[in-house]
Amino acid sequence: MLHAFTFAQGRVRYSNRFLDSNAYRAARARGAPGASVFAVDPGLSLFSRLLMGLLPFQLDNTNISIAQVAGRFLALTETPLAIEFDPETLRTIGAFRFRDRLHGHLTTAHPLYDAATGVSYTYLTRFGLPSRYQIMTFGARRRMLGSLPVTAPGYMHSFAMTERYLVLSEFPFLLSMRDILSTKVPLIGCFRWRPERATRFLVLDKRTGELVRTYEADPCFGFHHVNAYETGEGLTLDLIVYPDPSVIDQLYLDTLAQRPRLPSGELRRYVLPQRGRSARYAVVSPVGLELPQIDERQRSRRHRYVYGVGVSQRGAFFDQIVRVDTEQRAVAIWSEAGCYPGEPIFVPDPGACAEGEGLLLTIVLDGRCGTSFLLALDAATLEEVGRARVAHHIPFGLHGLYV
Ligand code: CO
Repeated sequence: MLHAFTFAQGRVRYSNRFLDSNAYRAARARGAPGASVFAVDPGLSLFSRLLMGLLPFQLDNTNISIAQVAGRFLALTETPLAIEFDPETLRTIGAFRFRDRLHGHLTTAHPLYDAATGVSYTYLTRFGLPSRYQIMTFGARRRMLGSLPVTAPGYMHSFAMTERYLVLSEFPFLLSMRDILSTKVPLIGCFRWRPERATRFLVLDKRTGELVRTYEADPCFGFHHVNAYETGEGLTLDLIVYPDPSVIDQLYLDTLAQRPRLPSGELRRYVLPQRGRSARYAVVSPVGLELPQIDERQRSRRHRYVYGVGVSQRGAFFDQIVRVDTEQRAVAIWSEAGCYPGEPIFVPDPGACAEGEGLLLTIVLDGRCGTSFLLALDAATLEEVGRARVAHHIPFGLHGLYV
């Protein structure tokens, strides 16, 4: 379901509408949800799994994120399908047709937009012998930049971009071709934790797609890159990291509904040095966080502040908004009893030029009354600026967008 908050003349308007996807229609017909690609069993046979790239029916539940591409609004997931919608009415326009012949099986719901050049980037993993990481521009007509053969592709939820490079972080959570052929588990269940392998950072030239350098680091797992930038020493890469992929087990719907216990993601700052092939890191936040956001004006440049949701010491699910000052290693926290916030989105003050001057917007479930509200916080202090209550609850989502 799409949700929109609109601001005008000092008032906030809320609207919502289901995306009219095949997955939605199938769920309506069945009377229950079920078709998803992440951690709900899609009940796919071997054959349908192999045909996934060809027959995307029911795998178009594009519920992970929203992107604005060339003035059009797309809802995205990790299958290479996008659904276009009208941002005013939230009406579904339809499956977005890419005017190219590129194809693959697994992509990211987090394409990156380079404001300096107006180009967006993404990747599309193609399963096969060998499998390939295909790096490409993102838009109506995608352009292939590079294609790296890989024996066992990794599960990569997002990536990073500096001024000149793209960085793929390949955690040792690798696709097992045998599982994809023989089991009937959701796609995420076909990846295997291989801690004997290193985490690899693949640095690619943004213009040519060429692999410039590969770094290795200790095994770990993560979903979200915060940001990356170039320095005199090499590349700096901020990531939210877990010791292993067991966080995925906590994301299964049954577990979330019955006994949620989300682990805390660690904010790590990796340095990929100009000399050598090994990456080292420092932990730059004293508390854990997820769904990280920055002031987008700092994208691919040195950033100081990171915002996200966190799990408090007593908590079992995201119950606080966290702001990290990575220079001072200082943290500010917003929380309220019985309240569960989602991803905080940074909105810059239109008159401001300094990083972090603006608001954070987040949708909060108020467990005390079972309804949700939009919360606006001063991004510098996490003090409340205002809230707009909705008459009902808004189901937890993942990623949003301010336009
Ligand atoms: Co994400």
